[in-house]
Amino acid sequence: MFTWRIAALSDKENNLKFLVSEEELRRQEEYSDLVRTVLSSRYPLGKPKAFVHTYGCQGNVADGERIEGMLVNMGYELTQEADGADLVLYNTCAIREHAEDRVFGNLGALKPIKKKNPDMIIALCGCMMQQKHIADRIYKSFPYVDLLFGTHVIHKLPELMYRTICTGRRVFDITDSDGSIAEGLPIHRDGSFKAWLPIMYGCNNFCSYCIVPYVRGRERSRDFDTVVSEAKSLVEQGYKEITLLGQNVNSYNRELGSEYGFPALLRAINAIDGDFIIRFMTSNPKDCTKELLDTMADCEKVAKHLHLPVQSGNSRVLKAMNRKYDREKYLSLIEYAYSVMPELSITSDIIVGFPGETYEEFKDTLSLVEKVRYTSLYTFIFSARKGTRAYDMEDPVPREEKGRWFRELTDLQEKIAGERTAQMKGRVYRVLCEEKAKKEGMISGRTQGNVIVEFPADESVIGTFQNVKVTDCRTWIVNGELVK
Ligand code: SAH
Ligand code: SF4
Ligand code: F3S
Repeated sequence: MFTWRIAALSDKENNLKFLVSEEELRRQEEYSDLVRTVLSSRYPLGKPKAFVHTYGCQGNVADGERIEGMLVNMGYELTQEADGADLVLYNTCAIREHAEDRVFGNLGALKPIKKKNPDMIIALCGCMMQQKHIADRIYKSFPYVDLLFGTHVIHKLPELMYRTICTGRRVFDITDSDGSIAEGLPIHRDGSFKAWLPIMYGCNNFCSYCIVPYVRGRERSRDFDTVVSEAKSLVEQGYKEITLLGQNVNSYNRELGSEYGFPALLRAINAIDGDFIIRFMTSNPKDCTKELLDTMADCEKVAKHLHLPVQSGNSRVLKAMNRKYDREKYLSLIEYAYSVMPELSITSDIIVGFPGETYEEFKDTLSLVEKVRYTSLYTFIFSARKGTRAYDMEDPVPREEKGRWFRELTDLQEKIAGERTAQMKGRVYRVLCEEKAKKEGMISGRTQGNVIVEFPADESVIGTFQNVKVTDCRTWIVNGELVK
C-alpha cells in the first residue's frame, strides 16, 4: 500500500511537471492581444484570413483545433482556401515518408501564390517539423517559409506570430523537450456533434519503426477531473460522439492505479447524463487488460468498437518491432473481448514488410487476420524513419515484393469485410447521422461498430441518432432505410 502511494504521488507529480504555468499562459494571452491590435491596423477593411490544414492522426487534428482557436483569438478569420489567404499554416505528420512528401509538394505549390501576395505568411508546424533535419532543409531550401515551430511550443503561437509579424524575420522554434500540457487554450472545433478529447500526449514505447516518441515527447496524462469536466461540457453543448485520444490510452495515469486509470475514466464519462457515445483510440495491446474489456462491456455509452493495432501476426516480427506482446497474447485478448462483447467490431493497423520480415512470417499476419475477422484494417508498407531503430535494419525485400504481400492482405480483408457486412442485412442499427452522402438525397452515418451506412433522409437528421435497417450490403458500406 505504501509503495502504491509513492507511485501515485510520483505519477501525479510527473504529470504536473509538464503543465504550462498560468503565468506563461497569461503572457501568451497578452501577445495574442498585441497581434490582434497589429492586425486590425494592417487590415482595416476586414479580418485577415487564415488557412490551416492538418495532416496525420486525430491527436494532430486536436492540436489543429487549438491552433485555429488561438488564431481566431488573434483576429484571424478561418478560410478553406490557401489561395487568397493571408496566413497559410500546415500542421504536419511524420509517420511515413509519403506524409512528408505531400507536405513538400504542397509547399512547392505555395511558391507562386506567395509571389503574387508577398505579404502572405507561410507557417509550418507539427510532428514533421520537430525533426531537425527537416527544419534545416526547410530553412535552406524554402526561403519563403516565414514561421516554423515544433510540437512542444504550440501554446506559444501568439508569441511566435508576434515575432513573425513585427520583426519581418523568419522565426524557427523547434525547441526539444519532454513535452508539455497546456490547459485552457481556446479551441475551434471542426465539428458540431463529434468532438476529439485528448486525454494524454506523447509516447514512451519506442516501437522500433515509429517516429512518434521522438517528435511528441514523453507520455503524460491530463488531469482526470479536467478531462471529465471537458467531456461534460461537450455533452452540454450537444456533442453526440466524444473520442478520447492518446497514443496508448490504456496507460492513462498508468501509476495512479485503478482509481484514476483509463477504465475509471471511461466509467466516469459514461456516467455523464445525456445521449452520446464514447469512442477511444488508440489502445496498444501491450497494455490492454481484461478490466478495460469488461468496462467497455459494462458501459452502455462506450461504442462496441475496439481499434487494437496488431502490426504483425508473427511473434518474431513483433519482438523486432519492440511491441512487447506476442501473437498468443493478442489472440487471447481478442478471444476474451468477443466473449464479453459478442457483437464487438474490431479494427487494426498492420505494417507490411518490416525489415527482415519473410514471406512465411507475413503469412502469420494473414492467418491472424482470418482468425480475428476485423471489420476493417489500416494497412501500411513499412517506411524507414530517420532516427528510429528500424531505420538502420537490413531490409532486403524489394518494394514490389512488399506491394504484392500488401495486396494479398488487402484482398483478404476485403473478402472478410464483405462477409461481415453481409451479415448485417435485415438488422436494425442505431446510427449517428454524419453528412450528405455522394448520392443525391442520401445521408451517410456510422454504426457503433464504425461501419458506414447510407440511407435516404433529409439533412435535418445530420447530428442525430437514428435507427436504420440494413437493406443491402456493399463491401465496406451498407445501404439502409430509416425505421421508427
Ligand atoms: N500508437 C498507436 C499507433 C499510432 S501510429 C499504436 O501503438 O498502436 C498509426 C499507425 O501507423 C501505426 O499503428 C502503424 O501501423 C503505422 N506506422 C507507424 N510507423 C510506421 C512506419 N514507420 N512505417 C509504416 N507504418 C507505420
Ligand atoms: Fe508509435 Fe508504438 Fe508509441 Fe504507437 S505505441 S505511437 S506505434 S511508438
Ligand atoms: Fe503523424 Fe504525429 Fe500523429 S507523426 S500520426 S501527426 S503523432
